[in-house]
Amino acid sequence: MLHTTTARARGADALSHIAAAEEHAAHNYHPLPVVIAEGSGAWVTDVDGRRYLDALAGYSALNFGHRHPRLVARAERQLRRVTLTSRAFHHDQFAGFTAALAELTGKDKVLPMNSGAEAVETAIKLARRWGYLVRGVPEPEARIVVMAGNFHGRTTTVISFSDDPEAHDHHGPYTPGFVTVPYGDAAALRDAIDDRTVAVLLEPIQGEAGVLIPPDRYLREVRQLCSATGVLMVADEIQSGLARTGRTFACDHEDVVPDVYVLGKALGGGIVPVSAIAADAAVMDVITPGTHGSTFGGNPLACAVGHEVVTMLAGGEFQERAARLGEVLAGQLAGLTPYGVVGLRCRGLWAGVDVDPELMTGRELTERMAERGVLAKDTHGSTIRLAPPLVATEDELGHLVAVIRDSLQP
Ligand SMILES: Cc1ncc(COP(=O)(O)O)c(C=O)c1O
Repeated sequence: MLHTTTARARGADALSHIAAAEEHAAHNYHPLPVVIAEGSGAWVTDVDGRRYLDALAGYSALNFGHRHPRLVARAERQLRRVTLTSRAFHHDQFAGFTAALAELTGKDKVLPMNSGAEAVETAIKLARRWGYLVRGVPEPEARIVVMAGNFHGRTTTVISFSDDPEAHDHHGPYTPGFVTVPYGDAAALRDAIDDRTVAVLLEPIQGEAGVLIPPDRYLREVRQLCSATGVLMVADEIQSGLARTGRTFACDHEDVVPDVYVLGKALGGGIVPVSAIAADAAVMDVITPGTHGSTFGGNPLACAVGHEVVTMLAGGEFQERAARLGEVLAGQLAGLTPYGVVGLRCRGLWAGVDVDPELMTGRELTERMAERGVLAKDTHGSTIRLAPPLVATEDELGHLVAVIRDSLQP
Protein backbone atom coordinates (compact mmCIF):
# COMPACT_ATOMS: atom_id res chain seq x y z
CA MET A 1 0.00 0.00 0.00
CA LEU A 2 1.27 3.48 -0.83
CA HIS A 3 1.91 5.96 1.93
CA THR A 4 -0.38 8.92 1.50
CA THR A 5 2.59 11.27 1.12
CA THR A 6 3.57 9.62 -2.16
CA ALA A 7 0.74 11.59 -3.72
CA ARG A 8 3.03 14.61 -3.44
CA ALA A 9 5.70 13.08 -5.65
CA ARG A 10 5.78 14.63 -9.09
CA GLY A 11 5.81 12.75 -12.34
CA ALA A 12 5.04 9.23 -13.43
CA ASP A 13 8.65 8.08 -13.07
CA ALA A 14 8.76 8.95 -9.39
CA LEU A 15 5.36 7.38 -8.70
CA SER A 16 6.19 4.12 -10.45
CA HIS A 17 9.54 3.92 -8.67
CA ILE A 18 7.94 4.49 -5.28
CA ALA A 19 5.19 1.95 -6.00
CA ALA A 20 7.74 -0.71 -7.00
CA ALA A 21 9.84 -0.03 -3.93
CA GLU A 22 6.78 -0.25 -1.70
CA GLU A 23 5.91 -3.61 -3.21
CA HIS A 24 9.31 -5.28 -3.24
CA ALA A 25 11.38 -3.72 -0.50
CA ALA A 26 11.01 -4.20 3.25
CA HIS A 27 9.35 -1.20 4.86
CA ASN A 28 12.16 -0.40 7.26
CA TYR A 29 12.18 3.28 6.22
CA HIS A 30 9.54 5.92 5.54
CA PRO A 31 11.34 8.10 2.98
CA LEU A 32 10.11 11.43 1.72
CA PRO A 33 8.46 10.98 -1.69
CA VAL A 34 11.51 12.13 -3.65
CA VAL A 35 13.33 9.81 -6.05
CA ILE A 36 16.89 10.99 -6.51
CA ALA A 37 18.66 10.28 -9.76
CA GLU A 38 21.79 12.43 -9.55
CA GLY A 39 23.81 14.41 -7.06
CA SER A 40 26.51 17.04 -7.32
CA GLY A 41 27.94 19.10 -4.46
CA ALA A 42 25.13 20.22 -2.18
CA TRP A 43 22.40 19.43 -4.72
CA VAL A 44 20.50 16.41 -5.97
CA THR A 45 18.18 16.04 -8.96
CA ASP A 46 15.16 13.74 -8.99
CA VAL A 47 13.95 11.45 -11.76
CA ASP A 48 11.70 14.22 -13.04
CA GLY A 49 14.53 16.74 -13.26
CA ARG A 50 13.60 18.69 -10.13
CA ARG A 51 16.54 19.96 -8.05
CA TYR A 52 16.78 19.87 -4.25
CA LEU A 53 19.29 21.28 -1.82
CA ASP A 54 20.43 18.33 0.28
CA ALA A 55 20.42 19.61 3.85
CA LEU A 56 20.79 16.15 5.38
CA ALA A 57 23.89 15.01 3.48
CA GLY A 58 23.43 11.34 4.31
CA TYR A 59 23.40 12.11 8.07
CA SER A 60 26.93 13.56 7.62
CA ALA A 61 28.16 10.75 5.34
CA LEU A 62 28.26 13.39 2.58
CA ASN A 63 30.28 15.99 4.47
CA PHE A 64 32.19 16.70 1.24
CA GLY A 65 29.01 16.85 -0.82
CA HIS A 66 27.91 14.54 -3.59
CA ARG A 67 30.67 13.25 -5.86
CA HIS A 68 33.46 15.51 -4.67
CA PRO A 69 35.87 15.59 -7.65
CA ARG A 70 38.90 14.60 -5.57
CA LEU A 71 37.12 11.63 -4.08
CA VAL A 72 35.60 10.52 -7.38
CA ALA A 73 39.00 10.74 -9.09
CA ARG A 74 40.63 8.68 -6.35
CA ALA A 75 37.84 6.08 -6.47
CA GLU A 76 38.02 5.88 -10.27
CA ARG A 77 41.78 5.37 -10.17
CA GLN A 78 41.36 2.58 -7.67
CA LEU A 79 38.46 0.98 -9.59
CA ARG A 80 40.88 0.45 -12.48
CA ARG A 81 43.46 -1.25 -10.24
CA VAL A 82 41.98 -3.58 -7.60
CA THR A 83 38.87 -3.28 -5.44
CA LEU A 84 38.80 -6.26 -3.10
CA THR A 85 41.40 -8.65 -1.81
CA SER A 86 40.09 -9.71 1.63
CA ARG A 87 42.43 -9.32 4.57
CA ALA A 88 43.87 -12.75 3.84
CA PHE A 89 46.46 -10.82 1.82
CA HIS A 90 48.10 -7.43 2.08
CA HIS A 91 47.24 -4.75 -0.49
CA ASP A 92 49.02 -1.55 -1.35
CA GLN A 93 46.30 0.89 -0.15
CA PHE A 94 46.07 -0.42 3.42
CA ALA A 95 49.20 0.92 5.09
CA GLY A 96 48.78 4.44 3.69
CA PHE A 97 45.18 4.72 4.87
CA THR A 98 45.77 3.31 8.33
CA ALA A 99 48.86 5.48 8.89
CA ALA A 100 47.02 8.62 7.77
CA LEU A 101 44.00 7.88 9.97
CA ALA A 102 46.23 7.07 12.94
CA GLU A 103 47.89 10.44 12.47
CA LEU A 104 44.57 12.31 12.16
CA THR A 105 43.26 10.72 15.36
CA GLY A 106 46.61 10.90 17.18
CA LYS A 107 46.30 7.19 17.98
CA ASP A 108 48.79 4.37 17.38
CA LYS A 109 46.46 2.04 15.53
CA VAL A 110 43.22 1.80 13.61
CA LEU A 111 40.92 -1.10 12.78
CA PRO A 112 38.84 -0.55 9.63
CA MET A 113 35.34 -1.94 9.22
CA ASN A 114 32.43 -0.92 6.95
CA SER A 115 29.24 0.35 8.58
CA GLY A 116 29.07 2.53 11.65
CA ALA A 117 27.27 -0.11 13.70
CA GLU A 118 30.08 -2.55 12.94
CA ALA A 119 32.62 -0.06 14.23
CA VAL A 120 30.59 0.36 17.44
CA GLU A 121 30.45 -3.43 17.80
CA THR A 122 34.20 -3.49 17.28
CA ALA A 123 34.71 -0.92 20.04
CA ILE A 124 32.48 -2.93 22.40
CA LYS A 125 34.43 -6.12 21.71
CA LEU A 126 37.72 -4.26 22.14
CA ALA A 127 36.64 -2.74 25.46
CA ARG A 128 35.41 -6.04 26.87
CA ARG A 129 38.52 -7.90 25.72
CA TRP A 130 40.76 -5.19 27.16
CA GLY A 131 38.78 -5.35 30.40
CA TYR A 132 39.33 -9.10 30.76
CA LEU A 133 42.87 -9.38 29.45
CA VAL A 134 44.43 -6.15 30.74
CA ARG A 135 42.25 -4.90 33.61
CA GLY A 136 41.55 -8.41 34.94
CA VAL A 137 37.77 -7.98 35.21
CA PRO A 138 36.27 -11.43 35.95
CA GLU A 139 34.58 -12.95 32.88
CA PRO A 140 31.82 -12.44 31.79
CA GLU A 141 31.17 -9.54 34.15
CA ALA A 142 32.34 -6.55 32.03
CA ARG A 143 29.93 -3.63 31.96
CA ILE A 144 29.78 -0.67 29.64
CA VAL A 145 28.04 2.55 30.66
CA VAL A 146 25.94 4.08 27.89
CA MET A 147 23.78 7.19 27.65
CA ALA A 148 20.00 7.61 27.64
CA GLY A 149 18.85 8.71 24.20
CA ASN A 150 21.84 7.11 22.48
CA PHE A 151 21.92 6.03 18.87
CA HIS A 152 24.81 3.78 17.86
CA GLY A 153 23.30 1.72 15.03
CA ARG A 154 21.01 -1.21 14.45
CA THR A 155 22.76 -4.48 15.29
CA THR A 156 21.31 -6.74 17.97
CA THR A 157 23.87 -5.80 20.61
CA VAL A 158 23.68 -2.10 19.84
CA ILE A 159 19.86 -1.94 20.01
CA SER A 160 19.99 -3.93 23.25
CA PHE A 161 20.96 -0.69 25.01
CA SER A 162 18.78 1.67 22.98
CA ASP A 163 15.90 3.31 24.85
CA ASP A 164 14.05 4.12 21.64
CA PRO A 165 11.15 1.61 21.59
CA GLU A 166 11.06 1.51 17.78
CA ALA A 167 14.71 0.54 17.57
CA HIS A 168 14.67 -1.71 20.63
CA ASP A 169 11.38 -3.55 21.07
CA HIS A 170 10.62 -7.09 19.84
CA HIS A 171 14.23 -7.93 19.04
CA GLY A 172 15.15 -9.77 22.24
CA PRO A 173 16.73 -11.63 23.85
CA TYR A 174 19.03 -8.68 24.37
CA THR A 175 22.78 -8.53 24.97
CA PRO A 176 23.49 -7.90 28.65
CA GLY A 177 26.32 -5.87 30.13
CA PHE A 178 25.14 -2.29 29.57
CA VAL A 179 24.13 0.30 32.15
CA THR A 180 22.28 3.45 31.06
CA VAL A 181 22.73 6.87 32.69
CA PRO A 182 21.22 10.25 31.78
CA TYR A 183 23.21 12.06 29.08
CA GLY A 184 25.08 15.10 30.34
CA ASP A 185 24.94 14.08 34.01
CA ALA A 186 28.49 13.53 35.29
CA ALA A 187 27.33 12.69 38.83
CA ALA A 188 25.12 9.87 37.52
CA LEU A 189 28.04 8.57 35.52
CA ARG A 190 30.30 8.63 38.58
CA ASP A 191 27.72 6.59 40.52
CA ALA A 192 27.35 4.07 37.70
CA ILE A 193 31.04 3.20 37.35
CA ASP A 194 32.17 0.23 39.45
CA ASP A 195 35.05 -2.23 39.31
CA ARG A 196 33.36 -4.23 36.55
CA THR A 197 33.03 -1.19 34.30
CA VAL A 198 35.37 -1.37 31.31
CA ALA A 199 34.14 1.54 29.21
CA VAL A 200 31.90 4.56 28.87
CA LEU A 201 30.40 4.77 25.40
CA LEU A 202 28.91 8.07 24.29
CA GLU A 203 28.21 10.38 21.38
CA PRO A 204 29.93 13.72 22.13
CA ILE A 205 26.82 15.27 20.58
CA GLN A 206 23.73 13.08 20.24
CA GLY A 207 22.69 13.26 16.59
CA GLU A 208 19.64 11.05 16.25
CA ALA A 209 18.30 12.37 19.57
CA GLY A 210 18.07 15.81 17.92
CA VAL A 211 21.62 17.23 17.91
CA LEU A 212 21.75 17.35 21.71
CA ILE A 213 24.84 19.15 22.95
CA PRO A 214 25.87 18.19 26.50
CA PRO A 215 26.53 20.88 29.14
CA ASP A 216 29.86 22.70 28.97
CA ARG A 217 32.73 20.71 30.50
CA TYR A 218 30.73 17.47 30.51
CA LEU A 219 33.10 15.72 28.11
CA ARG A 220 36.03 16.81 30.29
CA GLU A 221 34.31 15.39 33.34
CA VAL A 222 33.72 12.12 31.51
CA ARG A 223 37.39 12.08 30.52
CA GLN A 224 38.50 12.73 34.10
CA LEU A 225 36.18 10.07 35.53
CA CYS A 226 37.39 7.49 33.00
CA SER A 227 41.04 8.30 33.69
CA ALA A 228 40.55 8.22 37.46
CA THR A 229 38.77 4.85 37.40
CA GLY A 230 40.81 3.14 34.68
CA VAL A 231 37.84 2.91 32.31
CA LEU A 232 38.03 3.43 28.54
CA MET A 233 36.32 6.53 27.19
CA VAL A 234 34.85 5.50 23.84
CA ALA A 235 33.61 8.40 21.70
CA ASP A 236 31.22 7.53 18.88
CA GLU A 237 32.14 10.30 16.44
CA ILE A 238 30.46 8.55 13.51
CA GLN A 239 28.12 11.48 12.93
CA SER A 240 29.82 14.27 14.88
CA GLY A 241 33.36 13.69 13.64
CA LEU A 242 35.38 14.54 10.56
CA ALA A 243 34.79 18.32 10.45
CA ARG A 244 30.99 18.42 10.88
CA THR A 245 31.11 20.51 14.07
CA GLY A 246 33.87 22.88 12.97
CA ARG A 247 36.65 20.77 14.50
CA THR A 248 38.02 17.43 13.35
CA PHE A 249 36.22 15.73 16.24
CA ALA A 250 33.42 17.04 18.46
CA CYS A 251 35.57 16.08 21.47
CA ASP A 252 38.09 18.71 20.30
CA HIS A 253 35.70 21.46 21.44
CA GLU A 254 36.58 20.53 25.02
CA ASP A 255 40.18 19.49 24.24
CA VAL A 256 39.23 15.97 25.19
CA VAL A 257 40.95 12.93 23.73
CA PRO A 258 38.99 9.70 24.21
CA ASP A 259 40.74 6.33 24.46
CA VAL A 260 38.83 5.01 21.48
CA TYR A 261 37.43 6.97 18.53
CA VAL A 262 34.62 5.34 16.58
CA LEU A 263 34.37 6.73 13.06
CA GLY A 264 32.24 6.11 9.98
CA LYS A 265 29.94 7.94 7.60
CA ALA A 266 32.09 10.72 6.06
CA LEU A 267 35.15 8.47 6.24
CA GLY A 268 33.83 6.81 3.08
CA GLY A 269 33.45 10.15 1.29
CA GLY A 270 29.83 9.32 0.47
CA ILE A 271 31.15 6.75 -2.01
CA VAL A 272 31.76 3.53 -0.07
CA PRO A 273 30.94 2.47 3.48
CA VAL A 274 34.11 2.93 5.54
CA SER A 275 34.22 2.85 9.32
CA ALA A 276 37.02 2.38 11.80
CA ILE A 277 38.04 2.54 15.40
CA ALA A 278 41.28 4.16 16.53
CA ALA A 279 43.11 3.50 19.80
CA ASP A 280 46.59 3.29 21.23
CA ALA A 281 48.54 0.03 21.03
CA ALA A 282 48.09 -0.71 24.74
CA VAL A 283 44.38 -1.11 24.04
CA MET A 284 44.25 -2.20 20.40
CA ASP A 285 46.83 -4.94 20.80
CA VAL A 286 44.36 -7.15 22.65
CA ILE A 287 42.94 -7.82 19.19
CA THR A 288 44.92 -10.71 17.69
CA PRO A 289 44.49 -12.75 14.48
CA GLY A 290 41.14 -14.50 14.40
CA THR A 291 39.54 -12.45 17.19
CA HIS A 292 37.85 -9.91 14.91
CA GLY A 293 37.50 -9.23 11.20
CA SER A 294 35.38 -8.49 8.15
CA THR A 295 35.59 -9.63 4.51
CA PHE A 296 35.12 -6.09 3.26
CA GLY A 297 36.71 -4.09 6.08
CA GLY A 298 39.82 -2.28 4.88
CA ASN A 299 39.34 -3.24 1.22
CA PRO A 300 41.45 -1.43 -1.40
CA LEU A 301 38.65 0.79 -2.72
CA ALA A 302 37.59 1.76 0.81
CA CYS A 303 41.17 2.48 1.83
CA ALA A 304 41.85 4.58 -1.26
CA VAL A 305 38.75 6.74 -0.71
CA GLY A 306 39.26 6.84 3.06
CA HIS A 307 42.86 7.93 2.59
CA GLU A 308 41.76 10.77 0.33
CA VAL A 309 39.15 11.82 2.92
CA VAL A 310 41.77 11.90 5.65
CA THR A 311 44.17 13.85 3.43
CA MET A 312 41.43 16.41 2.73
CA LEU A 313 40.76 16.75 6.46
CA ALA A 314 44.43 17.05 7.37
CA GLY A 315 44.56 20.53 5.82
CA GLY A 316 41.85 21.82 8.18
CA GLU A 317 39.96 23.81 5.55
CA PHE A 318 36.72 21.82 5.92
CA GLN A 319 36.81 22.22 9.70
CA GLU A 320 37.36 25.97 9.29
CA ARG A 321 34.56 26.20 6.73
CA ALA A 322 32.12 24.29 8.96
CA ALA A 323 32.93 26.60 11.88
CA ARG A 324 32.55 29.78 9.80
CA LEU A 325 29.40 28.72 7.93
CA GLY A 326 28.02 27.21 11.12
CA GLU A 327 27.93 30.66 12.67
CA VAL A 328 26.11 32.00 9.64
CA LEU A 329 23.56 29.17 9.79
CA ALA A 330 23.04 29.52 13.55
CA GLY A 331 22.51 33.28 13.20
CA GLN A 332 19.92 32.83 10.47
CA LEU A 333 18.10 30.00 12.24
CA ALA A 334 17.85 32.16 15.35
CA GLY A 335 15.68 34.51 13.28
CA LEU A 336 13.04 31.80 12.93
CA THR A 337 11.72 32.10 16.48
CA PRO A 338 8.75 34.29 15.45
CA TYR A 339 7.78 31.61 12.92
CA GLY A 340 7.41 28.81 15.48
CA VAL A 341 10.91 27.57 16.24
CA VAL A 342 10.96 26.86 19.96
CA GLY A 343 14.38 25.24 20.35
CA LEU A 344 17.68 25.46 18.48
CA ARG A 345 21.00 23.67 18.97
CA CYS A 346 23.90 24.35 16.62
CA ARG A 347 27.49 23.18 16.56
CA GLY A 348 29.39 23.85 13.36
CA LEU A 349 27.28 23.05 10.32
CA TRP A 350 24.95 20.83 12.30
CA ALA A 351 21.66 21.93 13.81
CA GLY A 352 18.68 20.51 15.66
CA VAL A 353 15.60 22.67 15.20
CA ASP A 354 12.51 22.13 17.39
CA VAL A 355 9.26 23.52 16.06
CA ASP A 356 6.19 24.20 18.13
CA PRO A 357 4.35 20.84 18.18
CA GLU A 358 1.05 22.74 17.96
CA LEU A 359 2.17 24.02 14.58
CA MET A 360 3.25 20.78 12.90
CA THR A 361 5.34 17.65 13.28
CA GLY A 362 8.93 17.46 12.08
CA ARG A 363 7.79 15.05 9.38
CA GLU A 364 5.23 17.54 8.11
CA LEU A 365 7.85 20.28 8.05
CA THR A 366 10.28 18.14 6.04
CA GLU A 367 7.49 17.28 3.59
CA ARG A 368 6.72 20.96 3.12
CA MET A 369 10.42 21.73 2.70
CA ALA A 370 10.78 18.98 0.08
CA GLU A 371 7.92 20.53 -1.88
CA ARG A 372 9.97 23.73 -1.89
CA GLY A 373 13.15 21.95 -2.97
CA VAL A 374 15.09 21.33 0.26
CA LEU A 375 15.70 17.91 1.81
CA ALA A 376 16.04 17.43 5.57
CA LYS A 377 15.07 14.78 8.12
CA ASP A 378 12.83 14.87 11.12
CA THR A 379 13.55 13.12 14.39
CA HIS A 380 11.43 12.49 17.47
CA GLY A 381 8.21 14.47 17.11
CA SER A 382 8.71 18.08 16.14
CA THR A 383 12.48 18.26 15.64
CA ILE A 384 14.34 18.41 12.35
CA ARG A 385 18.05 17.85 11.82
CA LEU A 386 20.12 19.90 9.44
CA ALA A 387 23.54 18.73 8.30
CA PRO A 388 24.18 20.40 4.95
CA PRO A 389 27.33 19.35 3.10
CA LEU A 390 30.35 21.35 4.21
CA VAL A 391 30.78 22.51 0.61
CA ALA A 392 27.45 24.40 0.72
CA THR A 393 27.74 28.14 0.16
CA GLU A 394 26.46 30.97 2.30
CA ASP A 395 23.76 31.64 -0.30
CA GLU A 396 22.65 28.03 -0.18
CA LEU A 397 22.38 28.19 3.61
CA GLY A 398 20.32 31.36 3.24
CA HIS A 399 18.06 29.51 0.83
CA LEU A 400 17.72 26.62 3.31
CA VAL A 401 16.63 28.94 6.12
CA ALA A 402 14.22 30.84 3.84
CA VAL A 403 12.60 27.55 2.84
CA ILE A 404 12.21 26.52 6.50
CA ARG A 405 10.61 29.90 7.21
CA ASP A 406 8.20 29.58 4.28
CA SER A 407 7.38 26.00 5.21
CA LEU A 408 6.45 27.06 8.75
CA GLN A 409 3.76 29.42 7.45
CA PRO A 410 0.23 28.07 7.85
C1 LIG B 1 26.43 8.22 16.29
C2 LIG B 1 26.12 7.07 15.37
N1 LIG B 1 26.66 5.88 15.61
C3 LIG B 1 26.43 4.84 14.81
C4 LIG B 1 25.62 4.94 13.70
C5 LIG B 1 25.37 3.75 12.81
O1 LIG B 1 26.01 3.86 11.59
P1 LIG B 1 25.56 2.95 10.37
O2 LIG B 1 24.18 3.37 9.98
O3 LIG B 1 26.58 3.23 9.30
O4 LIG B 1 25.62 1.53 10.86
C6 LIG B 1 25.04 6.17 13.41
C7 LIG B 1 24.14 6.33 12.24
O5 LIG B 1 23.35 7.23 12.14
C8 LIG B 1 25.29 7.27 14.27
O6 LIG B 1 24.75 8.47 14.04
